[in-house]
Amino acid sequence: MPRTVTTYVCQNCGAQSRQFFGRCSACGSWNSLVEQLSAPPPDKRRRRVSEAVAEPAPRRSEAIASVGERSVQRLHTGFAELDRVLGGGLVPGSLVLVGGDPGIGKSTLLLQTAEALAQRESVLYVSAEESAQQVKLRWSRLGPAATGDGPQLLAETDLEQVLQELEALRPAVAIIDSIQALHDAELASAPGSVAQVRECAAALQRLAKRLDIALLLVGHVTKEGMLAGPKVLEHLVDAVLTFEGDRFASHRLLRAVKNRFGATHELGVFEMRDRGLLEVSNPSELFLGSPEGSVGMATIVACEGTRPLVVELQALVSTTSYASPRRMATGIGTNRLHQILAVLEKHLGLPLSRFDCYLAVAGGLDVEEPAADLGVAAAVVASFRDLALPAGTVLVGELGLGGQLRPVGQLELRLQEAARLGFRRAVVPRGSGVTCLDLAVHEAGGVAEALVVALGVNPADDA
Ligand code: TYD
Ligand code: MG
Repeated sequence: MPRTVTTYVCQNCGAQSRQFFGRCSACGSWNSLVEQLSAPPPDKRRRRVSEAVAEPAPRRSEAIASVGERSVQRLHTGFAELDRVLGGGLVPGSLVLVGGDPGIGKSTLLLQTAEALAQRESVLYVSAEESAQQVKLRWSRLGPAATGDGPQLLAETDLEQVLQELEALRPAVAIIDSIQALHDAELASAPGSVAQVRECAAALQRLAKRLDIALLLVGHVTKEGMLAGPKVLEHLVDAVLTFEGDRFASHRLLRAVKNRFGATHELGVFEMRDRGLLEVSNPSELFLGSPEGSVGMATIVACEGTRPLVVELQALVSTTSYASPRRMATGIGTNRLHQILAVLEKHLGLPLSRFDCYLAVAGGLDVEEPAADLGVAAAVVASFRDLALPAGTVLVGELGLGGQLRPVGQLELRLQEAARLGFRRAVVPRGSGVTCLDLAVHEAGGVAEALVVALGVNPADDA
């Protein structure tokens, strides 16, 4: 019987060591090493083929130009939003990981997808977390289509059984909900541990590639907001999608963090209803508040992947009662807000360091791009001066530390979206050279000039 060896595996990054440490030497996380028993490494005395004195094997490589092309027929998932995030549909034989917080709606999304795909393809839905009855109950609630029997369902946690079923059924698409709940009986570690997740995913991938099955894996996000076994799985799969949203809001955002078959940062928007998820094809309306401007509000056009989103920002600037004023931002990095406030203080001479400043992006969206800077500056200044921006104005531009405006990418796309939603005026960085027929485009070289144009008054003048 082979002697087992003890290794310690980091649950965060998957690094292995033969000794226990309180802190992982690879990723630096604390208390993440877990003991694991594994078989000893294969016998070193076995010689590699290349070292053996045997007949040379026939050549198997070929010139890249002569590799035969196979036209890929992408599968449509029934959700145009999901198709777009995947880069135009599900690629047969690909491996896609869908991650997200518990209760966000991963099972719902994939069950609806399974139902839609089952109209044309054979689909296997493996539920490792819920019983067949529970899935059936959900399926009935989602209002299945009148035709067909829907997808095949297997409630199973044992990897071997799942592999056998895949081999027997050979579906075009298989959904595993979730990869953390599957377990390989040959491994000693508990389900959900890095070793289990890696083994199960690798075994599924080998089979799926061989049988040309498109695999959708559900992955959970840990307390720290990481997919369990993140590095391990991200390397393995073709695409990583994250499903996120505010628990208190009904809309959900699906994003591609990695995609071998399409653009990353592509965004899909859904709304959770009582009968499942509904796609939102016009999401800008979700992130826009009242049509008339109010004090401290500014509208920007963010770009998520290739998708422009018109988003409303709200700022509140009020006299501080603390020694160091409070700065809070939701949806925008606090450091970014600090930087913009410093630029405004320096270049417009506004005494913002004596004021608290709160900033919020409507609809719970996270805007990471610097193109939002000018909008943030306008919202802050408008609140500080008790002004409302003229209705129908959008602001796009990155703020340099010297108070200058820097050009942003995909400006034309952004302005077209704003014009489509009825905006009439845009303030953009100088030299952008964009003309949008339905929109008056004002170019500005610096933040002071841009704010004068946007607000109609000079905010640096004492009120
Ligand atoms: P679920 O898909 O189980 O989440 P996950 O698999 O990511 O853990 O979604 C669960 C939540 O969605 C639950 O809080 C109830 C809600 N929900 C609806 O609001 N409407 C529905 O039609 C369904 C099926 C779920
Ligand atoms: Mg679930």
